[in-house]
Amino acid sequence: MTQHPTLPRTFPWLGLAALALATARLGAADAPALAPPAADRPDMTWFTDARLGIFIHWGVYSEGKGSESWAFHNGDMPYDTYIAQAKTFTAEYYQPERWAELFKAAGARYAVLTSKHHDGFALWDTAQSKLNAKDASPAGRDLVGPFCAAMRAEGIKVGLYFSHLDWSHPDYASVLNAKGTSDEDRKNRFSYPQGPENPAAWERFLAFHRAQLKEIAERYHPDLLWFDGDWERSAEQWRMPELRRQLKAWLPHVILNSRMAGYGDYATPEQALPVHPPAGPWELCMTINDSWGYQAKDHNFKSVRQIVRLLTECASQGGNLLLDVGPRSDGTITPEEEKILRELGRWTHRNAEALYGTTAGIPKDYYYGPSMLNKARDTLYLVCYDRPADGLYVKGVRNIVKRASVLGGGELAQRRFMGAAWASQPGIVIVDLPAAAADPDATVVRLELQGPIELTTD
Ligand code: GLC
Repeated sequence: MTQHPTLPRTFPWLGLAALALATARLGAADAPALAPPAADRPDMTWFTDARLGIFIHWGVYSEGKGSESWAFHNGDMPYDTYIAQAKTFTAEYYQPERWAELFKAAGARYAVLTSKHHDGFALWDTAQSKLNAKDASPAGRDLVGPFCAAMRAEGIKVGLYFSHLDWSHPDYASVLNAKGTSDEDRKNRFSYPQGPENPAAWERFLAFHRAQLKEIAERYHPDLLWFDGDWERSAEQWRMPELRRQLKAWLPHVILNSRMAGYGDYATPEQALPVHPPAGPWELCMTINDSWGYQAKDHNFKSVRQIVRLLTECASQGGNLLLDVGPRSDGTITPEEEKILRELGRWTHRNAEALYGTTAGIPKDYYYGPSMLNKARDTLYLVCYDRPADGLYVKGVRNIVKRASVLGGGELAQRRFMGAAWASQPGIVIVDLPAAAADPDATVVRLELQGPIELTTD
């Protein structure tokens, strides 16, 4: 059983203990997805070409007073107070077309909405439970359908987040002791087992879980299902192989993230850029500030430069960035978040050629920075965060460099330096980067090569 840290871990003011525990959690739950049998593997092309997605955490917690679901699980807020936040979940100004316009402007190619978080509150009008936006909040309607339609109208692929575990469901017994073992902690039925497992209740819960997923699959046909909350039980208990087969039968092209207890299609590291990329397709999910959902107190936003850095670090290792925003209960995205997304869009549009549809670049031994290659492998994109006074050095490229230029800018001077033709050593390509040609967030230099790239191995 995976050990889970004391959460919420998304608030910096909780200090280092939470951070350490959060780090501990990454190891197990974010292990790379098992490679599924080839016949079962979906075509991942749109996903691996997409590079940037927007994650949206929206639910009863979007009033901004406590963390998503973890607030009651951890005993920071009584359950009744937490769930009463549904009364202010109005979705009054919810216009998913505006979200779609904004996400597209940011350069995102897919978006993932929390259809149901660990608290069990569904954003669609599920027939399986009254705890949903239509029946239990002033929003009074299905919110998932309009989201899917608005994204698709802008050409954005649709992902739906779904928490396997459901701490509100009477048949779901939490087995995770989140906070200590005092008598008070033991009374918290949302985080402490209140008795032995009840197999009949578990069967009922699995039927409910499958029925909700069937609704989602049949009504919304998501391109991607982004699961979470698999850690309290084993793959056997969840019957993950069976669930995987069922999902693929409902949605033959669907892509599944790794939180299927190993039965997903791609790896899902969270909040920390992997130093060594996971094997196979992967995506880093990251908050725009320190919280998944809207938190009124959290203004610790990442700078556009930092986000560009994350995005290019991921892309250069063949991964995507799933950047999370937290709209408010009324359905609006805060001006701070909107500003960041639009400024990010300036960079992604300028540098689109280096981002979408590219693959991981050359190893850092050859260029001290991230890089990407086009699919033909004859164009190399060098990312430069801080302009080097002596120019960009690229070692060991055997190909003739036909042309060097800045994306969204002009041609750059380049020359070969310190080659040893008699020893078959191509030397170093130096590209001059004048200050005026540099981008304030990150400059991308394009090297057009004669033929697919060939690197020296010595
Ligand atoms: C974690 C948290 C959850 C958050 C998710 C996003 O698993 O439990 O609150 O929604 O990460 O990746």
